[in-house]
Amino acid sequence: MERGLDLARAVAVLEGGGLVAFPTETVYGLGADAANEAAVARIFAAKGRPRGHPLIVHLADGAQLDEWAIEVPEVAWQLARAAWPGPLTLVLRKGPRVAEAVTGGAATVGVRVPAHPIAQALLRRFGGGIAAPSANRVGAVSPTTAEHVADELGDAVDYLVDGGACEVGVESTIVDLSRGRPVLLRPGGLVREQIEAITGPLAAPDAEAPAAPGTLESHYAPLAEVIAVGPDEVPAAVAGARARGAAVAVLAPGAAFMAWPALQAHARRLPDDLAGIARDLYAALRDLDAAGFDVVIAALPPALGLGEAVGDRLRRAAGPRRSRRSRRPPRKSS
Ligand code: TXA
Ligand code: MG
Repeated sequence: MERGLDLARAVAVLEGGGLVAFPTETVYGLGADAANEAAVARIFAAKGRPRGHPLIVHLADGAQLDEWAIEVPEVAWQLARAAWPGPLTLVLRKGPRVAEAVTGGAATVGVRVPAHPIAQALLRRFGGGIAAPSANRVGAVSPTTAEHVADELGDAVDYLVDGGACEVGVESTIVDLSRGRPVLLRPGGLVREQIEAITGPLAAPDAEAPAAPGTLESHYAPLAEVIAVGPDEVPAAVAGARARGAAVAVLAPGAAFMAWPALQAHARRLPDDLAGIARDLYAALRDLDAAGFDVVIAALPPALGLGEAVGDRLRRAAGPRRSRRSRRPPRKSS
């Protein structure tokens, strides 16, 4: 894997059908030319992601929206003008040029215009759409630094654009506008309140909503078992896990530990503000895995603003899993 800040090189890799990992303001993406079926297929192989789980198409500019989507409702243009570039993905009816591999056969396409200056520069130089999921193995925690991508995907990536740490830290908010009333498919970096100011109340997904696999029960999961509880329940949850003989860490805002002097020794402190919690959450979960903890007791934030996305990710990290310590391919020894 090559790594650096050479965007001409990154564009050449995309044009040659290769995979480029790049920073966005939310998390790192694993990108391919959205118009190249074979290149897009390589993304699924690299992630171990089942075919049929659709990818988001990243664009430089919202004005390109109707090159990818059809029957774009006025509210989509309003959201695009208000929120792009930024951490919002719109699901719309797909246009004829969208490659089959991108949407996995769905009639819709997810589109977003990322705000990160490197993502912007890459998209402008490339000109086309870049299909990109988060640059992690399926089910695992999304990467928020180039180091995370290199650790997890290594040689599956042809070029890694190293742009440091991501600002927002949780993935984009996904809103479905393909079926009339707006539906929140995934809370994320753009808070509900800002979207609802334009769309009115967002509905929860119903049975007919486009399936977003990022909303499967277990997702965004580290190797350690995660137990997500309200702050008041943290001490009892720690006692319960320790009684089983587990090595326990407590993940919570730093200020919370003032109420729990006995837990100081287990503390992994997050910032006290929601933006800081979102920014540092995934790196903290990775750190705790690297330190070898069996169990992470995580304090759920209030479900306001970015707290909705953070709580969603913690609950999914805590969701039931088919297997543990098996998602990651064996580390290469070189
Ligand atoms: O912030 C983000 O959105 C990051 C950065 C790289 O842009 N990307 C990201 O992609 O999180 P991914 O693939 O890890 O998660 C996107 C989610 C998936 O759950 C996928 O199923 C859903 O979006 N999705 C994509 N296209 C969709 C569609 N047409 N209908 C319903 N869900 C869709
Ligand atoms: Mg993902």
